[in-house]
Amino acid sequence: MAKIDSVDTKIIQDSRDKDTIEVTLSVGSIKATASVPAGKSKGEHEAVSHSAQDAEKIITQLTSTLVKTDFSGPTSFDQFLIATDGTVQKSNLGGNTTLALSIAFLRLWAQTNRLQLHQAISQIAGISPTGFPMFFSNVINGGLHVDQNFNPLAFQEYMVVPQSKSPTKSLEIVNGIIETIKNILTSENHPLNFGDEGGFIVSGDNPEDGLKILEQALKTYQSTEQSKIALDIAASSFWDPKNQKYSWRSDNWTTQQLIDLYQKIVANYPIMSIEDPFNQDNFDDWGTFHQITDDSIWIVGDDLTVTNTKRIEEAKQSDAANAMIIKPNQIGTFTETIEAIKMARRFGWKIIVSHRSGETEDDFIADLAYGVAADGLKAGSPLQKERLVKYQRLIEIENS
Ligand code: PGA
Ligand code: ZN
Repeated sequence: MAKIDSVDTKIIQDSRDKDTIEVTLSVGSIKATASVPAGKSKGEHEAVSHSAQDAEKIITQLTSTLVKTDFSGPTSFDQFLIATDGTVQKSNLGGNTTLALSIAFLRLWAQTNRLQLHQAISQIAGISPTGFPMFFSNVINGGLHVDQNFNPLAFQEYMVVPQSKSPTKSLEIVNGIIETIKNILTSENHPLNFGDEGGFIVSGDNPEDGLKILEQALKTYQSTEQSKIALDIAASSFWDPKNQKYSWRSDNWTTQQLIDLYQKIVANYPIMSIEDPFNQDNFDDWGTFHQITDDSIWIVGDDLTVTNTKRIEEAKQSDAANAMIIKPNQIGTFTETIEAIKMARRFGWKIIVSHRSGETEDDFIADLAYGVAADGLKAGSPLQKERLVKYQRLIEIENS
């Protein structure tokens, strides 16, 4: 590929109105832009994120090297970023800085090679698409993704998963379920408020309340395709290491009490997956729960695995999970994201490519999910534009 001609940066606002970095790289008349999201209930072991202003300064400092180096492709570009940073958690450059550059370069390379982004991803990863990922769409929000004045439920996310491999059909079902939940809440005189990922807020101290509403919506909404429920507990966000308990507002659970609650939930609701059921470093508890459930549901690592091969290996040693979330900004480059995906696949795990709670209108994760044949795409509620564009990009690929 010809050398990069110019590197431009811009500070834009994410879905929470927080500043984030956008990068545009160009070669001749070809331009490629990427922006990066931000998490709130972040894993302790994920890449460090710098302020958008610092990311901009760092990119300015790197520019003279970026424009004079002849990168053979996205892999060598990412190797340059990884070597320049030189830390385990991207604390020098920032995972947000490196990811914005990494994705922009990948797009630029795809365009100069006249490839669709997902084709470029498949080619570099050596993975062939096998169909479309299922939608994991947030419809009820709790935990840290809700203003605490609303007295949110402990569990962070209640998602609907249409059992369809067609993005068009999946989006139709998700929208139908959202409309049905809205009607249920309205008929109960429940105010309509929304969390960070666009899901409805249900207040209260019983996490089963969210499940009851979602189950009612699934039964009320008529569709030829069945839908299941996915939960993201985000348990690290309410783990109290001092007391070795899970504490959320006035609720307290021991690990055993949480296991009992999950077993009850799995027995009573159409549960497909449970993400981050325990604290990110309690590998043995994950292993115990995985053994009990015996692969009847997906046990999904997010804060546990942080898209990092070292953490994924550790999780495998404890047999902690059988599925994992892929968030490129947890690790900071496209290349390392692919390495994490390939390792999870070697272990026979399911893969869910995911957005973050603070999102931009960049739809990179849709191409990533399709290009690496992910089992799921977790992208929040389509009520928010930043989330909708990801689902729409899959529909665009479906119709192409
Ligand atoms: P985050 O949450 O983006 O705020 O970290 C998303 C998740 O936990 O899956
Ligand atoms: Zn999560």
